Amino acid sequence: MPARNCSFCGQELEPGTGVMFVKRDGTVYFFCSSKCERNFKLGRKGRKLKWARGEKVERTFVMIKPDGVRAGLTEEIRSRILKAGLRIVSSKKMKLDRTLAEQLYSPHKGKPFFEELVKFICSGQVEVMMVEGKKAISKMRELIGPTDPSQAPRGTIRGDFGKSITENVIHAADSPESAERELKLFFK
Ligand code: CMP
Repeated sequence: MPARNCSFCGQELEPGTGVMFVKRDGTVYFFCSSKCERNFKLGRKGRKLKWARGEKVERTFVMIKPDGVRAGLTEEIRSRILKAGLRIVSSKKMKLDRTLAEQLYSPHKGKPFFEELVKFICSGQVEVMMVEGKKAISKMRELIGPTDPSQAPRGTIRGDFGKSITENVIHAADSPESAERELKLFFK
């Protein structure tokens, strides 16, 4: 089925959702909600109504690393994610084998730290999560802070709990492409 957009606010409609309206002349319109349908019929201009513009909900991949799980930080981190207005759609505790760790970190293959990174990630249990919300990818990156904990401000997860660039507590996808690739590896 081709992607459809709301005729009022322009938001892309999930297949099978929305409201259909057929004008007397046979023209068919689709809306994401009855509110948008009403505003359209009242002749309002969608682009002028800020509230009517739906922001796209993103999904991202997050992993609490073995040092974070060992330090008992899982609940603290989950609570920070929720307080940021994000939703944890799915999560599981697991131990990565070498193949999966190499797949996750394949963009770093060949770098001097790759071997140490893979060994460390396989050294204990991790908690993997699918996190959802508006701007979830950039919000999660802000929450975790820079890769190197010594450069990470207080109040960020790495700034508060990270010990080193390898033992930096948490990973979160850095772009929509990475999020899609990483989520596929862990959530089928
Ligand atoms: P992460 O966000 O999981 O993505 C790649 C990881 O490589 C990174 O966090 C660090 O833990 C690890 N790493 C180790 N050494 C380096 C380095 N010199 N530069 C960047 N990342 C490093």
